[in-house]
Amino acid sequence: MPIRPNFLERTAFFTLNAAPAPMLDLAGGLALQVINTAVRLDLFTALKERPSTPTELAQSLNCQARGLDKLLAALAAIGYVVERDGRYHNSAMTNKWFLQGEMLDMKTALLVFDTFFRELWPHAPEIIQSGERPFNFYDFTASTPGLSHAHQTMMQGNANLVGADIVKKVALPASASRLLDVGGGHGQFTIHFCQAHPQLTATIMDSEAALETAQQNLEAAQLADRVDLYATDLWQAAWGTEWDGILLFNLLHHYDLETNHKLLQKAHTALKPGGKVAIFDQVAGKQFGSATNAMVQLVGLMYYLFADGRIFTRDELTDLLSQTGFQNMQFYLMRQAPGSNLLVAEK
Ligand SMILES: C[S@@+](CC[C@H](N)C(=O)[O-])C[C@H]1O[C@@H](n2cnc3c(N)ncnc32)[C@H](O)[C@@H]1O
Repeated sequence: MPIRPNFLERTAFFTLNAAPAPMLDLAGGLALQVINTAVRLDLFTALKERPSTPTELAQSLNCQARGLDKLLAALAAIGYVVERDGRYHNSAMTNKWFLQGEMLDMKTALLVFDTFFRELWPHAPEIIQSGERPFNFYDFTASTPGLSHAHQTMMQGNANLVGADIVKKVALPASASRLLDVGGGHGQFTIHFCQAHPQLTATIMDSEAALETAQQNLEAAQLADRVDLYATDLWQAAWGTEWDGILLFNLLHHYDLETNHKLLQKAHTALKPGGKVAIFDQVAGKQFGSATNAMVQLVGLMYYLFADGRIFTRDELTDLLSQTGFQNMQFYLMRQAPGSNLLVAEK
């Protein structure tokens, strides 16, 4: 498990403020480096193939046993590997979240975040001081080799975690035949919708770089003939009309309220009467718990730093939808994706 203080430690760190709790954040930073090192050495894959002693693992990974011994001890202390009878195994958590990449691809997420930490976060103080960004996040993503595909792969893992549930909750009518996925990137949400609705065709609107991943995914899912890829800037593009459903997933956090009002107006105009808009995004405020709330606030700051974006409250989003003329709003907490919520509304 990620570092988890026991009762006595929680009392000392949090209740009594008798031990320096910020040390836990420093240790969390070290833990991230430790996991990153294991991913770069492909240690979890090796242990999945064969639980090993440090010496055996040193041979298969072409490393020094001394260093690996220390790495394994550190990984065991934070719950990523387990030692039994002298051999190390992956923990259940590692097997599920690092090695079944189709559901929340932590391995890719680490690589993406590592790039963000090295290249973008160092600018945080100057961005907070000046409000200006010395980079354009989308240009940076498109021009850094492999980053766009890794970013989309990371997002598609999240999509697979919630996709089937979202399709059920959005509940397009059986007659629905046209879906528009705005900023749909990797295309995995569209794939879930098309698989559940055999009569549905769809268009994914996104940048050329993002749609390269969608193209691969649609071909793998044998859905390329039912889905159009529209490489464009969503603000410049004509969205068309008479859509049965429009997805705005992980998109609103790029913009401020005023800009999102314009985004929802575009969606409202493009939908047919009775058509549904679905928003899936992090929502600030009513969350499951303090860890979820912390995750939402931490990524909220990142959205600001990278793209002048932010996370909205449920009230802000529902007000926005009703101001734009949407009705019959439904709000769902998505337990599989802590902090992310789904809103569905009708034109
Ligand atoms: C965070 S990703 C979300 C991808 C997918 N909808 C999901 O939820 O997993 C945001 C997507 O919006 C796209 N996007 C952002 N601004 C855009 C714009 N102005 N025009 C077209 N696509 C845009 C990005 O390229 C990216 O693929």
